[in-house]
Amino acid sequence: MKGVILAGGLGTRLRPLTLVTNKHLLPVYDKPMIYYPIECLLNAGITDILIVTGGEHAGDFLKLLKNGKDLGIGHLEYAYQEGEGGIAEALKLAQDFADGEKICVILGDNIIEQNIRKAAGEFFTQRSGAKILLKEVPDPQRFGVVRFEGEGDDRRVAEIIEKPADPPSNCAVTGIYFYDADVFEVCQGLKPSGRGELEITDVNNYYLQRGDLTHDILDGWWTDAGTFESLFRASEYIARGGANHADQPVKKQIAEAAS
Ligand code: G1P
Repeated sequence: MKGVILAGGLGTRLRPLTLVTNKHLLPVYDKPMIYYPIECLLNAGITDILIVTGGEHAGDFLKLLKNGKDLGIGHLEYAYQEGEGGIAEALKLAQDFADGEKICVILGDNIIEQNIRKAAGEFFTQRSGAKILLKEVPDPQRFGVVRFEGEGDDRRVAEIIEKPADPPSNCAVTGIYFYDADVFEVCQGLKPSGRGELEITDVNNYYLQRGDLTHDILDGWWTDAGTFESLFRASEYIARGGANHADQPVKKQIAEAAS
């Protein structure tokens, strides 16, 4: 399985910081934000990685990551997104890279405490379709949110609603997704949402209606880092739980390089 990190966008919610750099290069405690999704993929055994970015600071990713070898990335590619079209629009650029294989997609501002190895393993053996990772949050209106039907063991995902004013649950869809090769055709068929973007939630609802969407609950803490509040929270989590990251490849590489 290959990995795709979506690291484009204008990062308008983090201005003025993002006037002079890409959001995903901002520091989260002791590392640039982009290191965390890279670490997440590497920890799941995914070492063939594409970074989709854009804007005038895109070249800075090369300066930081080069060919990825220092971080333990087996193979690193970059794609450049012209303009702003949303997550599903950016994902279209991964089609050649995926080359018919299954992919794990992670939003460049999503940071997790534990790892996604179990979910990646499950998706590897899932015949087709997609898999999403969910997490209970106190502020679901900021995210894609799941509406469930049924109770207990019969509880199933009935719908995903993007940033609902009146959330039907507090279960957010995290920015970590697994897709089969059909995803590119699905993205091609999407229509822009009210905010003028191709929404990843529409992709997930497509798979749900096809009866081909599985889900798992993400262990440990999870946060995005796209607002000042969540960026601060992310740094705080990392600073507090730093030791838990000691065995992770990127952290290890940095420690080794520093010694
Ligand atoms: C995006 C997705 C949303 C998801 C979130 C996770 O929102 O549209 O469904 O819950 O990422 O970080 P955005 O950060 O683009 O507002």
